[in-house]
Amino acid sequence: MSANDDRDPLFRYDDPVFADERLLEITHLPGPDRIVGRDEQMQRVADALNPAIFGSEPNHLFIFGKTGTGKSLISRSVTKRVISEARRDDVTVKYAFIDCGEQNTEASIIKTIAQLVNDSSESGITIPDRGLGTGDYYKRLWQAVDRCTDVTIVILDEIDMLEDDEVLRKLSRAGENRRISDSSIGIIGISNKIDFPDHLSERVKSSLSRDELVFSPYDANQLVEILEKRRDAFHDGVLSGDVIPLTAALAAQEHGDARKAIDILRNAGRIAKKQNATRVTADHVRDAKEKTEADRFNELIEGSPQQAKAILYSLTLLTENSSEKEFPTKIIYNQYKEVANRLDFDVLSERRVQEILQEQNFLNVIQSEREGRGRGRGAHAKHRLLENPSIVKKVLLRDSRLAPLEEGASDTGDTASTGSRSRQNDTTGSRSERGNSSSGSNPDRSDGNNSSSGRENGSDRAGSGSADEDDANDETDQSDSDDASAGKDENGDASVGDEKAGDEQSSVGHWS
Ligand SMILES: Nc1ncnc2c1ncn2[C@@H]1O[C@H](COP(=O)(O)OP(=O)(O)OP(=O)(O)O)[C@@H](O)[C@H]1O
Ligand SMILES: [Mg+2]
Repeated sequence: MSANDDRDPLFRYDDPVFADERLLEITHLPGPDRIVGRDEQMQRVADALNPAIFGSEPNHLFIFGKTGTGKSLISRSVTKRVISEARRDDVTVKYAFIDCGEQNTEASIIKTIAQLVNDSSESGITIPDRGLGTGDYYKRLWQAVDRCTDVTIVILDEIDMLEDDEVLRKLSRAGENRRISDSSIGIIGISNKIDFPDHLSERVKSSLSRDELVFSPYDANQLVEILEKRRDAFHDGVLSGDVIPLTAALAAQEHGDARKAIDILRNAGRIAKKQNATRVTADHVRDAKEKTEADRFNELIEGSPQQAKAILYSLTLLTENSSEKEFPTKIIYNQYKEVANRLDFDVLSERRVQEILQEQNFLNVIQSEREGRGRGRGAHAKHRLLENPSIVKKVLLRDSRLAPLEEGASDTGDTASTGSRSRQNDTTGSRSERGNSSSGSNPDRSDGNNSSSGRENGSDRAGSGSADEDDANDETDQSDSDDASAGKDENGDASVGDEKAGDEQSSVGHWS
């Protein structure tokens, strides 16, 4: 009799494909031995944060790079190592990880940082979820920081999504302005948009001195290595020989995106499992690529109103039916009017359509550029899809209000071979510029961080830790990350500086 014979037959108790699927979850934080090709960047982040180990103020740092280049990973990994080393000198370093795509107002950011660093048994204060004005939240933040930490590292992911950059000025000036006296704050700002600092207000620009660091995309060999180091997510012998190289090649098609590579590999395993296959093959990988791209696009547009979807649909029709890839607002508007009529939607004004296109540009759903200027503002912008139109169409039609469009839709469903562009936000200059569509196939797309606006499963939201793993070589596991109570250890104790604190506390998920 096998060990599972007396179990409820409704469920499965074995997994023929995955040995440890969590290793492939985007929210998983791999240990340093699984991190590939980022030694130099890790060293730069370590240099900026180094003073924290002795309780001194770290240098502020901005990190730029396209999606899936390891920005969040390296920031968090190095921060955790700082926390462990500091602890050895009895220095309490805490960190707060904020996804500005999720929390972009000054008040919500301040409140979240305060909640993540506060330990009421030490500070004697609480940080209520609501009811305080921004000024009062600041006061409590300074108290919590002063009483509960020697150094606070604030990681602001997707910092370009900040509604108001005043928070940067206040955080960076807290010591100087004597808001805090016994502690200091270091800021790591992360963005896909290399020109983000140009858009900071003059006040912030002049007050926030910082180092800057750019992460370049991986090459296919590095992606192979990254995947090889997660091979133990699968049982021995499950991966066919060509699976990892093919996954890496597909994820390197536009820019070497480790997020996409890991997503494809995980989805390939899931597809194989669903089919009761015991081996993951190249076909599973190809199917997984399509699924991964559709999921990412779905995350990007999930919150968009139906009118925005109708506008995107219009752009998709134009793209499909033309050899052009970018279209002026006016042309899109004409197509949109027809689509809106078919759907029985109110027809919005051209100006409103133009605004919605700009919003979608900001969210990295499309790319908009004003002719001759490289920026997507104004009536003379041209817009292009960043994702393969057949994927866009498929995802848009998932919305039942758009379903009437399906009749006559020319979606072939064949997307696996068209080389869609994974989200590659601009690290080369203009905010939304993507790579050129090279091989004359469909213009492709962006991924999902937005992966914040469209990041996987709400990962990378907010999290903090007073301490992290016992050993920086340990890997976080889900039980750590799922602890939603900031500043507490695994047992729920709130003792600052304890080992194994709930280092990935997050309101929404755990982190990558
Ligand atoms: N150098 C690396 N070695 C191993 N794994 C990596 C490396 N870089 C990234 N990854 C993995 O790829 C995924 C994406 O990385 P990460 O979230 O850090 O990217 P990012 O640059 O923050 O992307 P985004 O801009 O979309 O947020 C994560 O699962 C991460 O563990
Ligand atoms: Mg990130």
